Amino acid sequence: MSKFVTNAWYLGAWSSEIGEENLLSRRILDLPIVFFRKRDGSPAALIDRCSHKLAPLSLGKKIGDEVQCGYHGLQFDCTGHCTKVPSQNQIPPTANIRAFPVIERYGAIWIWMGDAAFADETKLIRLEHYGEEGWGIVTGQYIRFDCNYLNITDNLVDPAHTTYVHAATIGSPEGSEVPVKVEQTDDYVLAYRWIKNVPPVPLARKMGNFSENTDRFQYYYLYLPSISCVDFGTMEAGLEPTEENKNTGLRSFSYNFLTPETSDRTHYFWLHIRNYKTGDAEADKDVERLMTATFLEDADILAAVQLQQAETGVREHTKLAIDNAPARVRRLTERMIQAEAPI
Ligand code: FES
Ligand SMILES: [Fe+2]
Repeated sequence: MSKFVTNAWYLGAWSSEIGEENLLSRRILDLPIVFFRKRDGSPAALIDRCSHKLAPLSLGKKIGDEVQCGYHGLQFDCTGHCTKVPSQNQIPPTANIRAFPVIERYGAIWIWMGDAAFADETKLIRLEHYGEEGWGIVTGQYIRFDCNYLNITDNLVDPAHTTYVHAATIGSPEGSEVPVKVEQTDDYVLAYRWIKNVPPVPLARKMGNFSENTDRFQYYYLYLPSISCVDFGTMEAGLEPTEENKNTGLRSFSYNFLTPETSDRTHYFWLHIRNYKTGDAEADKDVERLMTATFLEDADILAAVQLQQAETGVREHTKLAIDNAPARVRRLTERMIQAEAPI
């Protein structure tokens, strides 16, 4: 059985990674993919494997709207149809290759790896406040995590690790004793907590000019199979915890898009949407630096965990209360994978 959910939109590449001429090769769900753009700018994705002798097409070149294999010159259009076999009039039907549905939105190319008949654009996640007045966006650099994507989904619905893994960046000791509540729907698992009446963390002090104590909230959503949104913020202590009041202080939506590369490597794309210091290039740089440092802390611990799992064949010895949300994500993901399996 596949180890991945295939009927989902995965972030395949940032828009900026695919120019007019280049062919971008990226392994996704353990399949080689080549991304390129047609002359009108629209993106396309094919299996990165020629139907002749399996040469990676990404080693070839673009000819108009098509890709030419760099070995013997077979040519393919964006639907995977073989349009040309040099020195031969007949094109064998076996020469066609697989194409993948793609869409471009939020500065990214999204790829559908499963049955193209189910590739519905409305299933793409909607990013909160993206592009809205009063909200700023920082798009991060691509990061590779040397671990299975489920070790990252574990981590992204697990606020308990932040005190320890992120002591140097976003963690703070006040949070460590506050229990996490968990909810789930068909679309996501949510772990959340409020940390009430505590001094502002250094970043909040710097960005928000809080002098008194604050209330902090952290809502960790994991949209199945592998997109995380952390809705977090700091507001004046004692306010009602309403949506409106959450916007009165500093609020961020930290999106992490996990695209499995293989079963032990994951492409990690992130972007950050915030309601403070928008249009301020210095603040953008601060966010970029802080988030990058934070995610690299996760990448380090998770690569180390992955090595131990590989060595022992064991994922965890002991289950704790903090594993409630991660376990739900794994259960729901497993169910989605099973639902896709042929009967
Ligand atoms: S391997 Fe691609 S044309 Fe021969
Ligand atoms: Fe983390």
